[in-house]
Amino acid sequence: MPDSDAILTFDRVSKDFVVRRRVLHAVNQVSFSIPVGKTVGLVGESGSGKSTIGRLGIGLLPATAGQVVFKGQDITRLKPNALRPLRQSMQIIFQDPQASLSPRMTVGDAIEDAMNIHGMGTPQQRKRRVEELLERVGLPVSAADAYPFELSGGQLQRVGIARALSLNPELVVCDEPVSALDVSIQIQIIQLLQDLQREYHLSYLFISHNLAVVEYLSDVVVVLYLGQIVEQAPVEELFRRATHPYTRVLMDSILRVPQPGESARRFTVLKGEVPSPFSPPSGCPFHTRCPVAIDRCSKEVPELTLIGPDHWVKCHLAESAS
Ligand SMILES: Nc1ncnc2c1ncn2[C@@H]1O[C@H](COP(=O)(O)OP(=O)(O)OP(=O)(O)O)[C@@H](O)[C@H]1O
Ligand code: SF4
Ligand SMILES: [Mg+2]
Repeated sequence: MPDSDAILTFDRVSKDFVVRRRVLHAVNQVSFSIPVGKTVGLVGESGSGKSTIGRLGIGLLPATAGQVVFKGQDITRLKPNALRPLRQSMQIIFQDPQASLSPRMTVGDAIEDAMNIHGMGTPQQRKRRVEELLERVGLPVSAADAYPFELSGGQLQRVGIARALSLNPELVVCDEPVSALDVSIQIQIIQLLQDLQREYHLSYLFISHNLAVVEYLSDVVVVLYLGQIVEQAPVEELFRRATHPYTRVLMDSILRVPQPGESARRFTVLKGEVPSPFSPPSGCPFHTRCPVAIDRCSKEVPELTLIGPDHWVKCHLAESAS
């Protein structure tokens, strides 16, 4: 059921793509909500369906099944004309801002572009707004006259953020916004996103393949494997008690300095290839790579089971322990 305190709810959402007459199950029966002003972190390896969920969430892709509800309104089957005014409130920041910026447009024009399209303000008001946004994301006003090739990766991501903010959104999908940046720059951008969230009361869907990055910013973490949610919990609960074998592998691969009393986490590489999303494995989709699989795992699909406060796990071992 859609959650009334949520800005965005996915209710049993699936997305199939047809590729050369074969059906690819990119997202399978995914349900979760983003509370207003909070961040949900979406984590999983490449191809697990993170970006597809992000695009479904802001109406860039139609769902095959289920409902996507934005501020109480089912946007799943809205016609483009009805969706357009809502789209202003939902923005996206990409991993590679350079790819989404025209090389022939100055930074100022790129930020102003969306305001232009939505008929916001007079030319003078838009120019002033561009300057305000540049300053707010930590760039000099003079950056408005620069071309994308003149800026560093971190500066370009700041432009991407300014552009996303230009329409005063309420929800921002951040799709791997720091994955291409150096670690020191990653931290600056994450801190900027955190400050902007507080200042503008933004809600984020924060996508990353890196659990350490997700931990920093998220209130709730959703772990995806082959288009399905395998674990979901508030961030502290997940880090205290990661339960799904896949989440535990992701945890193990975080290289972090142990805190006093905390044992150093081993770096573990998951064995085996990611199965084809055209023909996912029977039973538990993780059974072909799971280090603790039992006989039942290849035959029966596990249920999503509540094992703690708002802590859900999809694994037979968790079912029998709960
Ligand atoms: N437009 C499309 N047409 C066909 N298949 C697609 C399309 N978009 C995504 N897919 C497939 O859907 C699955 C999920 O892709 P998605 O891009 O959502 O994964 P991801 O978790 O974002 O991966 P990455 O970490 O590499 O960005 C993949 O198997 C991908 O090949
Ligand atoms: S259900 Fe079985 S294969 Fe799947 S994660 Fe749990 S133990 Fe591993
Ligand atoms: Mg992606």
